[in-house]
Amino acid sequence: MSSTGRLIDLRSDTLTAPTDAMRKAMAEAEVGDDVYGEDPTVNKMQSLAADLCGMEDALFVSTGTMGNLLCVLGHCFERGSEVMLGNSSHLYRREQGGPAQWGGVNMNPLPNRKDGTFSLDDVRSKFHNGKDFHETKTSLIAIENTMNGRIVPMNFIKELRQLANELNVPIHMDGARLFNAAVGLNVPVSSITQYVDSVSICLSKSLGAPVGSVIVGSKPFIARTRRIRKALGGAMRQSGVIAAAGILALTDMVKRLHIDHENAKTFAKGIIQYYPNYVNLNMDETETNMVWFDVNTKLPTHDGRNSAQEFCYRMANRYNDDDVVVKMFGFFGVSIRCVFYNGVSQADVKLALEKFHSVMKAWISESNVS
Ligand SMILES: Cc1ncc(COP(=O)(O)O)c(C=O)c1O
Repeated sequence: MSSTGRLIDLRSDTLTAPTDAMRKAMAEAEVGDDVYGEDPTVNKMQSLAADLCGMEDALFVSTGTMGNLLCVLGHCFERGSEVMLGNSSHLYRREQGGPAQWGGVNMNPLPNRKDGTFSLDDVRSKFHNGKDFHETKTSLIAIENTMNGRIVPMNFIKELRQLANELNVPIHMDGARLFNAAVGLNVPVSSITQYVDSVSICLSKSLGAPVGSVIVGSKPFIARTRRIRKALGGAMRQSGVIAAAGILALTDMVKRLHIDHENAKTFAKGIIQYYPNYVNLNMDETETNMVWFDVNTKLPTHDGRNSAQEFCYRMANRYNDDDVVVKMFGFFGVSIRCVFYNGVSQADVKLALEKFHSVMKAWISESNVS
């Protein structure tokens, strides 16, 4: 690409690079041995996360996958346990069946709706209370918020809490992007976490830290997960160096998330405005930093690509001598995902829309779809 060219990478908010302030904080971080609980920066980040979520304690972990795994294992410590969860969730689909693989915990998936909810009647009917010794025992219900950029409705979370109380089972929330949900609803994050028993929050996605997640919960629960983290080789030493960026993730970076949400909306509006016959996108589903859409499957494709892959291919290649390359994710075969994060500016949104127009114009001209 020429020196004037621009790569706009909308594949994921995991592409955030640490800010200058984060790099400075990391260089200057006061550290100690966190296995002894003596790293002041880790301790500060953990207290901050716990306070923000209104929980007793927190634990710094390497990734979202490890956070979810530790939380499941921390709740499902009885042999023969299962976690009940949505069948579209990251924990169910994209973490290699970690709970089963490392903890012998069965997974009981329920059909997920697009907004992250599932039927409470399903929870009731598929719940295993452990009295029948032929069955696993449901020791945890897990939900994800945001799910694919959608904010899980608060009334669902409240009703699930009531049901979980009745069934005497804890709730875990995969809150990889929970702060996006809180900002989208304009509420403190604790107003969501008050209804669950544990949360795993990714510092390294929309919040921009280079590494790490933090899990929160009660003191005894976090003590259990701390023990499991050590066994899994996830206890780190002078990890204050990276927790320093986590502190800024939980403070300064939360304050700017609304910008990503605005950029996502501007982009979504821009792509349906001119090509309503070729793009299928529901504006109501653009609630936080993600935009999902499908393109018309009648448009011509090449080299065995499906329409989503063809579209992503065209966006990621130079076209008509333009100098802008836009990377997007073709998901589940048909849908396209674009994610907005620190590092994708308003000007980038404009450039990406221009690229979109030139790609669509050329693509439509090759087809006989009207
Ligand atoms: C909702 C959700 N949960 C958990 C994870 C896992 O995070 P990590 O990649 O840090 O393991 C991801 C990663 O994309 C995610 O999107």
